[in-house]
Amino acid sequence: MKRYGIKDYDELLKRALDDPDWFWDELARELEWFQPYQNVLKWDVPHAEWFCGGKFNITHNALDRHVQSWRKNKVAYIWEGELGQVKKMTYQELYRRVNQMANALRGLGVGRGDRVAIYLPMILELPIAMLACAKIGAVHSVVFSGFWAKAFKERANDAKVKVAITVDGFYRRGKVIPLKENVDKVLDDIPSLEKLIVVRHADCQVQMKNGRDLWWDEIIKNQERECPTEVMNSEDPLFILYTSGTTGKPKGVVHVHGGYAVGIYTTLKMVFDLKDEDIWWCAADIGWITGHSYIVYAPLLMGATSVMYEGAPDYPEPDRLWQIIEEYGVSVFYTAPTTIRMFMKHGEKWPQKHDLSSLRLLGSVGEPINPEAWMWYHKHIGNRQCPIMDTWWQTETGMHLITPLPITSLKPGSAVKPFPTVEADVVDDDGKSVTEGGGHLVIKTPWPAMFRTLYKDPERYVDAYWSRFPDMYLSGDVARVDEEGYFWIQGREDDVLNVAGHRISTAEVESALVSYDAVAEAAVVGKPDPVKGEEICSFITLKEGFKPSPRMKHLLREHVREEIGPVASPACVNFVDDLPKTRSGKIMRRVIKAKVKGDDVGDISTLANPEAVDELDNAL
Ligand code: WT7
Repeated sequence: MKRYGIKDYDELLKRALDDPDWFWDELARELEWFQPYQNVLKWDVPHAEWFCGGKFNITHNALDRHVQSWRKNKVAYIWEGELGQVKKMTYQELYRRVNQMANALRGLGVGRGDRVAIYLPMILELPIAMLACAKIGAVHSVVFSGFWAKAFKERANDAKVKVAITVDGFYRRGKVIPLKENVDKVLDDIPSLEKLIVVRHADCQVQMKNGRDLWWDEIIKNQERECPTEVMNSEDPLFILYTSGTTGKPKGVVHVHGGYAVGIYTTLKMVFDLKDEDIWWCAADIGWITGHSYIVYAPLLMGATSVMYEGAPDYPEPDRLWQIIEEYGVSVFYTAPTTIRMFMKHGEKWPQKHDLSSLRLLGSVGEPINPEAWMWYHKHIGNRQCPIMDTWWQTETGMHLITPLPITSLKPGSAVKPFPTVEADVVDDDGKSVTEGGGHLVIKTPWPAMFRTLYKDPERYVDAYWSRFPDMYLSGDVARVDEEGYFWIQGREDDVLNVAGHRISTAEVESALVSYDAVAEAAVVGKPDPVKGEEICSFITLKEGFKPSPRMKHLLREHVREEIGPVASPACVNFVDDLPKTRSGKIMRRVIKAKVKGDDVGDISTLANPEAVDELDNAL
């Protein structure tokens, strides 16, 4: 700001909004381009091309560039396992491991545009595998390790992956989760799959299939430590990340090399003000967009040192996170409100056992942070001195879109204002700005890290996000703007749940439930929960010949766990004889939702079976 004579935050926002090309061009120049771009942006709503004509590779910028500089011997990751093991990996070491893996993948015939599924927990091989794919121009699709085999299969088949990478097992709350054994059940149903690479981590017994399964350590052992980087176009795809939509079918969100890199680099730099001497810890899972952007790519683009932790935040005791902050002197810490609320419950005696004075800045992401949690975080973790960056964004946006900067005045519970160059608004059903009360949160300008399409589904890209209001991106969230222009995000307006910061579609859980042979119909809604934000609450009608029982509840929960993963297993299972329906037979989720929340059910005159509403009361 000094360089451009910009005196304050408001002037920065104004200058950036007036001339977004100037803003992004300045920042893009901080990265290395094999060939410069001709235009910053071509925008033909809803199709954007950023840094057109530029030749670029994100791995070159995340690694190759740093090993040419003094950062070569700087630690890129401090990794801590759940059992307490510690590994520190410098940029040079990471560069070599990535090159070896990239060579190994090339040796397996993986090249530009080929898809690779990565099904790994929070171990260093996860960023290594992602960066290796990017280096050779392959497109990675990371599947969260908390999803179970069938969810993996569905995603791997949609992307038609050639190679998949997994692990023998990993640790969670002291138990070994046998990921390879789990995925073995579905591998024969993924016809495009040629090879499975397995990382040795938990030393549990696995069956390796001849000709298909390969050990990670064996295939990289004799590989060269250098590997030519594929010269990509700015707009070439970098990864697909599946996320929940309003239907049961997950959406394959596609991000690209150039604009994505510039967007996440800029936001990490400006929102978290990272300096070379900082220790950065984004305590999310790489299986979600937060980890892709702010554990893997952005910190490496900046040449930062990051902490990466394998296990559960409260294991073996509720001070694990605070112990890690103290041990490594974490200075900037980024987590989710659900985690904060969980620690509020355990009490301040846990953080008080640790010296957290290294912290200078905090962050929050994933769901609205309630003012009580904000205050607790501020007081007990930040010692009343650290500003909290409440960052609103999504898998689709790739980068923070509504967020404060460290120079902004904060209001607890507000994500403050759009990032420079971004124009956000809250509109009514006709697309008109609303000045009072809530409405649809929309974005009116393109941004570099925006997703470019939905994989193999360009129509859904247009329909789901750009067709409701002309020239506006529909976020799916409800928000309100106060008189000072501060944004207050209230949550999803569609049938997507936010359970402990995990995005889960009610339709996906419903279809898992009805795939169980005893179930006739299922309705799933979110139930407010003081810690998790929302809990998954299901209502079930059983087929003839099946009876409700505690065992049946248990079986249904287990079934969803197998179908999707532990994160989607419903907290409550309620059996009813009938679900409230319209005359055309559609389940009235609105009515069920109101009942669960204890709200007034409103107009139920269109119901075919009003007595089903009373039955909900009995079930609850
Ligand atoms: C949804 C996107 C972006 C990384 C994590 C989730 C909710 C996200 C905030 C925030 C209020 C938030 C929204 C959004 N959300 N950040 N700071 N305040 N709500 O990514 O899985 O794509 O979920 O998370 O509802 O639509 P995601």
